[in-house]
Amino acid sequence: MTRTKVGIVGAGPAGLMLSHLLGLAGIESVVVESRGREAIEATIRAGGREQNTVDLMVETGIGDRLRREGFVHGGFEFRFDGRGHRIDLEKLTGGRAITVYPQHEVLKDLIAARLAAGGEIVFEARDTAVHDVATDPRITFTTRDGEARELRPDVIVGCDGSYGVARPAIEGADRQDFLRVYPFGWFGILTEAPPSSEELIYARHDSGFALISTRSPDVQRMYFQCDPSDRVENWSDDRIWNELQTRVAGDGFRLKEGPIFQKNIVPMRSFVCQPMQHGRLFIAGDAAHTVPPTGAKGLNLAVADVFVLSRAIESWYRTGSTDGLEGYSATALRRIWRAQHFSWWMTSMLHRFDDATEFDRRRQLAELDLVTSSEAAATTVAENYVGLPLH
Ligand code: PHB
Repeated sequence: MTRTKVGIVGAGPAGLMLSHLLGLAGIESVVVESRGREAIEATIRAGGREQNTVDLMVETGIGDRLRREGFVHGGFEFRFDGRGHRIDLEKLTGGRAITVYPQHEVLKDLIAARLAAGGEIVFEARDTAVHDVATDPRITFTTRDGEARELRPDVIVGCDGSYGVARPAIEGADRQDFLRVYPFGWFGILTEAPPSSEELIYARHDSGFALISTRSPDVQRMYFQCDPSDRVENWSDDRIWNELQTRVAGDGFRLKEGPIFQKNIVPMRSFVCQPMQHGRLFIAGDAAHTVPPTGAKGLNLAVADVFVLSRAIESWYRTGSTDGLEGYSATALRRIWRAQHFSWWMTSMLHRFDDATEFDRRRQLAELDLVTSSEAAATTVAENYVGLPLH
């Protein structure tokens, strides 16, 4: 049996960032993760980092590579009716921006920082379970060498994603789950090609949504709306380029094509579980909520959750007051529901819905016209996109 202060289930963005923030405050934690380090560092996920996330990484000493290798975008483009319209994030938000720096790069930086600081991350743990979270919290698991281990932390934080073991342990009459499944997914590709645009493009087309993003000067990330039950095998490179070119066409604009070396389909849903606490168990990140990627909020919300939670845990150890811990769920949920609304709204405005009528189509276009011509409306988009301040 090992005693520790904070037992963290899951070495994703939420779990590792929490462990990092606690470590800086002198609070020890152990992170238990089912995957191996190589798998975590190779998993392709989304790339949009809010200003808050960037600032927090820089302030806490893990922002060097991000500042060197991340792409800072002072704006992005909405494309519809064959034309591009820029949203000037910096001007509309007093200098805030979005940085494209993929999730697995953030994870590499966090893992390196935790290991350098002497933090414990147990990779490839099997049969992880949480017990007695209301009274006497424990985490049990089997190590990669087959040894059965038990952790007895003061608190458990479940950062183990949508399908982890932590969320089911949030019990009680007041637990509520909210779910919306969208009738489409995103087909994502990585291509070896130069950037087609200096900034991200969010395109609405009658045949569906497309997003043009980037990874490096030589590798680009693009997505297009697809049937969630479609299969990547059905899409040759030619067919993919045709579809992408169609969806962004207009004004003579063409995507720069190259070999496609990665294809995947992600489903789209919005989900919230609340409250995010039961006794001495707290949940954060995807364990508690999912947003569709249209608002670029996923990792940023996870980071915001654990920022609030780390402050609450710190203040509990320092003063003995549980106010911060008791308030965690409500504080985090306010931001989460704002992000849920924004992500749903961006999704609804930009995607093709099979049951949409001509009225719906014109309403979508009118909405895009509004957000690209009214400074007040554009400011709302920009503020939400760069993220509400953390402090
Ligand atoms: C990405 O680069 O993967 C990305 C960027 C913005 C989004 C979603 C994904 O909204």
